[in-house]
Amino acid sequence: MASFHQETVLSVHHWTDRLFSFTTTRDMSLRFSNGHFTMIGLESEGRPLLRAYSIASANHEEHLEFLSIKVESGPLTSRLQHLKPGDALIVGKKPTGTLVTDYLLPGRRLYLLATGTGLAPFLSIIRDPETYDRFEQIVLVHGVREVSELAYHDYLTEELPKDEIMGELVSGQLLYYPTVTRETFRNRGRVTTLIEAGKLFEDLGLPALNRDEDRVMLCGSPAMLADLKDMLEARGFKEGNTSTPGDFVIERAFVDK
Ligand code: A2P
Repeated sequence: MASFHQETVLSVHHWTDRLFSFTTTRDMSLRFSNGHFTMIGLESEGRPLLRAYSIASANHEEHLEFLSIKVESGPLTSRLQHLKPGDALIVGKKPTGTLVTDYLLPGRRLYLLATGTGLAPFLSIIRDPETYDRFEQIVLVHGVREVSELAYHDYLTEELPKDEIMGELVSGQLLYYPTVTRETFRNRGRVTTLIEAGKLFEDLGLPALNRDEDRVMLCGSPAMLADLKDMLEARGFKEGNTSTPGDFVIERAFVDK
């Protein structure tokens, strides 16, 4: 078990019957960049059962936080959903990933485009003061099917803007745009449609997405990533990776198959 730390669950929050988040203790030696994912899981029949999860907490925080869907037949999430405070969780010692501001070229605005649990790495990034040093504005778009799936909505609108450490930066520079596709809500439609139609920018009072000023991070389902990658490339954006910074970077949201 040398490549893992054994942590303890501190709290669990069920957002819907398909979506939950939880916090754990954090080994002091665990280092990660905001936006990274790591392997987490449980002991199963003497062996670790692990999946990649984005870390939703920021690297200056004492605990770790994760956001997960529940898949009935999912080997890991069918068990993880029953986590309680005090339970053990295995956490990989080597977080990694491409959703890191270092892998983007400098820009004015940072767009964080998420669907579903793709929100998780962006929760880490928006709680990092350095993000606000690098970009004048940060636009967090979260697309879900139903209003109840807008995890962290109240935290993002009510709590974080009043946070002792982050409040001032968040109030001045973060724009949060939740959008719902299958129910009535103040913002409606897929992220892709909102960008194509220009509605997102109209609503936020921003110029249309452009490579001169904007940088983008994507995290969501494979279909969402493919569509947005095509849209960005059609606008001249170049994808970055861990060796060459670019105008946008991509990561698939976790799924337990
Ligand atoms: P829709 O309701 O129109 O399918 P899911 O729960 O399936 O991961 O979906 C989360 C959100 O992502 C939903 O609002 C869904 O919209 C949206 N979505 C699904 N596919 C795409 C896509 N190709 N581009 C943008 N958004 C998408």
